[in-house]
Amino acid sequence: MSHIVVTLTQQDGTVVRIDDATADESLMEAARRAGVAGIVAECGGVCSCATCHVYVAEDWIGKVGEPDEVEDEMLDMVDHIRRPNSRLSCQIRLSEAVNGLQAEVAPDL
Ligand code: FES
Repeated sequence: MSHIVVTLTQQDGTVVRIDDATADESLMEAARRAGVAGIVAECGGVCSCATCHVYVAEDWIGKVGEPDEVEDEMLDMVDHIRRPNSRLSCQIRLSEAVNGLQAEVAPDL
């Protein structure tokens, strides 16, 4: 299986490049595996905690897509830090189409 590269900027500004992500995992799973700070993923990826919140880089929003209804409701619960490019990283399925994806870890809740 070919690897997918994703780059996450942590809350302290340091950048983590993950170059061995795969198409059978979510962005949250790749970030957790790489030890990215600030991706807590309390609920384990079932879209019910918002502790995997990221801001998708402008250039990638179109490719990553919009949150579905359930994710949108979850993001409403963190409205104070929500931005137009907010996504829950557990709901971003990695694929060749998002190879090179860049995002920023949102502040803690
Ligand atoms: S890990 Fe809980 S919402 Fe993503």
